[in-house]
Amino acid sequence: MSLEKAKQVAAFRAVDEFVKSDCVFGVGSGSTVVYAVQRLAERVELEHLKVVCIPTSFQAKQLILKHNLKLGELDTNPIIDVTIDGADEVDSNMTLIKGGGGCLLQEKIIASCSKALIVIADYTKDSVKLGDRYKKGIPIEVIPMAYVPIKNKVLAMYGGEIKLRSAIAKAGPVVTDNGNFILDWMFTNQDLDWEQVNTSVKMIPGVVEIGLFVKMCSKAYFGQPEGTVVER
Ligand code: 5RP
Repeated sequence: MSLEKAKQVAAFRAVDEFVKSDCVFGVGSGSTVVYAVQRLAERVELEHLKVVCIPTSFQAKQLILKHNLKLGELDTNPIIDVTIDGADEVDSNMTLIKGGGGCLLQEKIIASCSKALIVIADYTKDSVKLGDRYKKGIPIEVIPMAYVPIKNKVLAMYGGEIKLRSAIAKAGPVVTDNGNFILDWMFTNQDLDWEQVNTSVKMIPGVVEIGLFVKMCSKAYFGQPEGTVVER
């Protein structure tokens, strides 16, 4: 069973359990969400469900349009019934690292407007402590002019290593959908209080968002190598 199949079974299960007619649906970002939107489109067609989709990224918006689903926005739908999104890592407290695809800001805004945030992932994302399995660190979206002082402040507070994200070696920095840069913080202390880290990093002027999702996710589906799904 491939990793792709593991993503697909998790995505299909979550859409089947959580999407109902007359629902406002938050569409996450990443490769696993592609399967969720595919399943949603099948169900909308077969069951004539009425669903308004709110995207978390340019990618999510393109997926919604490609499948001829109804596109909405927070201006008209500020309360979302359920958001289904991927994650880079989920620890035993359901704290998430998100933003591997650089969409952490919109993903967190949409999650904060959702009655439920459901994570879909393959088995490699299921972890006990953050950093056990995901080695690329926690993304921090920052205003470009402030990336150096922010980097120094985070390192002074918590240590570790920080890299400015770039698309390929020697290319310029990755620019998010919102025109910002991303710092990837490779933390070394896995026993930090993530709620406190979330708050204190966000307090640094120039930090737009951090890809730590604390107490936001109510359920996770992990597709397994043999094609089953583990729920948490
Ligand atoms: C993008 C994200 C993604 O949801 C996360 O990176 C997981 O992606 P994938 O489903 O491709 O593993 O947070 O910012």
